[in-house]
Amino acid sequence: MKKRILSGMRPTGKLHLGHLVGALDNWVKLQEDYDCFFMVADWHALMSEYENPQSLKENILDNVIDWLSCGISPERSTIFIQSQVKGHLELYMALSLMTPLGWLERCPTYKEQLREVTNRDLSTYAFLGYPVLQAADILLYKAQTVPVGEDQLPHLELTREITRRFNGLYKDEVFPEPQALLTRSARLLGLDGRKMSKSYNNYILLSEKPEDIRKKVQNMFTDPKRIKLSDPGHPDQCNLNNYYSVFAPSEKKDLDEACRNSRIGCTECKKRLAEILIKFLEPIQKERSGYENNKKAISDILEEGRRRALAVADKTISEVKDLINLAHEL
Ligand code: TRP
Ligand code: SF4
Repeated sequence: MKKRILSGMRPTGKLHLGHLVGALDNWVKLQEDYDCFFMVADWHALMSEYENPQSLKENILDNVIDWLSCGISPERSTIFIQSQVKGHLELYMALSLMTPLGWLERCPTYKEQLREVTNRDLSTYAFLGYPVLQAADILLYKAQTVPVGEDQLPHLELTREITRRFNGLYKDEVFPEPQALLTRSARLLGLDGRKMSKSYNNYILLSEKPEDIRKKVQNMFTDPKRIKLSDPGHPDQCNLNNYYSVFAPSEKKDLDEACRNSRIGCTECKKRLAEILIKFLEPIQKERSGYENNKKAISDILEEGRRRALAVADKTISEVKDLINLAHEL
């Protein structure tokens, strides 16, 4: 029996290279060894986007198309939408009953977001419960393993605490304590050297057009000490170098030397990188246009995903209702 994985992404916008290198690539590999459930966390997206939900549905479909185009396989994995499986909300409630307020108020990601996000109002009841819904996502499928980036570790820790509490109150080992599988990907920074993020507008989309990739790469920040071509470059202080190491590792050594010895200028170096990225994204974009012309295939995949997710979720919910004596069957 393969171990089960559950992971999710919030459909808050189109996916970019940061999503691919940080998460998707890893998901694709995990499909070989795990029984994978990959979820579009649309309720979680609404927790921050509730004031402007206009593009939610479009983002959901667009993200699923990117997942498939990058190699998430609907035969091997269960791909589904969180809001289509109502068990998430039922378990969210059941877990909310026993989650102390202090655990949530103390959660570092919560405090950080309240402090740093200024363009939306996150001081809501639901947003405080974000990690409880995430715990429900994981426990609903009794996933043993959860691949996450470092930023999600506090949520995983909370999930484990909630799990112990539930098991302690009602039944030992009804839920396995999930383990985080930390994604140690070569971190890809944004075009300006900060974290790649929609809100910084420093990304390259998986669906970015070649001419836009060329423009964006030409505007990337480079080694600040290199002003003229004749100034020796410091590749280790240049963000482009980070991109070469992820997308063209075999070219990196020569490039480093050429940069240090002023044999290559930044404009040329950027031109080359743009072409590398365009070539890298070409097969993904080809897959994408196939799916864009075949929306029926996407809805079939999501329907099958919903069916498979429901089969597991309904069983867990019956078990939970029995444990807390809700009269679901009289
Ligand atoms: N909070 C996660 C993120 O922002 C998304 C998510 C929702 C998730 N539910 C999950 C991740 C369950 C792993 C497991 O990236
Ligand atoms: Fe960076 Fe390339 Fe310029 Fe060197 S040549 S500083 S690696 S952009």
